[in-house]
Amino acid sequence: MKKLFILFTVCTLLAEGAMAWGQKGHDVIANIAERNLTPKAKKALAEVLGGRSMVYDSSFPDQVKKMPGYEGTATWHYVNVDDGYTYETMPREPKGDVYTAISFMTEQLKDRNLDDSVRNTYTVMLIHLVGDLHCPMHAGRRSDRGGNDYKITWFRQPTNLHSIWDSRVIEAAHNWSYSEWAEQLDRCDKQTKREIMSGTPLDWLHETVDISKLIYRNTPEGSDCGYDYVFEHSKLVEQQLLKGGYRLAALLNEIYK
Ligand code: ADE
Ligand code: ZN
Ligand code: ZN
Repeated sequence: MKKLFILFTVCTLLAEGAMAWGQKGHDVIANIAERNLTPKAKKALAEVLGGRSMVYDSSFPDQVKKMPGYEGTATWHYVNVDDGYTYETMPREPKGDVYTAISFMTEQLKDRNLDDSVRNTYTVMLIHLVGDLHCPMHAGRRSDRGGNDYKITWFRQPTNLHSIWDSRVIEAAHNWSYSEWAEQLDRCDKQTKREIMSGTPLDWLHETVDISKLIYRNTPEGSDCGYDYVFEHSKLVEQQLLKGGYRLAALLNEIYK
């Protein structure tokens, strides 16, 4: 019975984990950002995060989004754009989306008089949400809830398109720890880094919407995604994690310049 209970708990945790970039994706993005902070931003963040690293709480907003007091944040993790729409023409999510939430956090954090504990919460949120902004199926269609209702199989096991892009594609692409991922990806020259960091969160959102449309095209409903799928998409997942990391650093460097 005890074994059954443990198995149930583990399965529940794994199922819950499939709701945003998995922890690995958020940790990689936070770690890449941390490696690219200016000295000023690094010093400010050490204070704001009470000496913890940017990785420590990178998945916290996913863990609390259904808890009392945080329900209003559930829609801040994604944006939906149906076929035939752009972000601008799509009806807005009334409770806010990943773009409006990032804009709000960024503006608030620029206010020097922000209360310390609010600053900590908003910083943790921003670290997480810039990750979600780069998670392809977090800019999917509303009609299938960002791919959650879009059935496919993963190595013949039934699942959905959203779930594999949150974590399984990452985990299958390389068997690296978050710091090994960061070490392997964060090798761009200054010019490339500058190009990736340029633009605005709205530009980055448009890019993710395009990527999600490409993924729908590449993955017809009912497909089986296996080794070929991982091979064909590993560069894309690497690119999104790297861009997320550099751009998160760019926002924090600007906030604490
Ligand atoms: N998670 C829950 N609902 C979602 C949606 N509509 N799009 C993306 N992710 C989601
Ligand atoms: Zn999330
Ligand atoms: Zn997700």
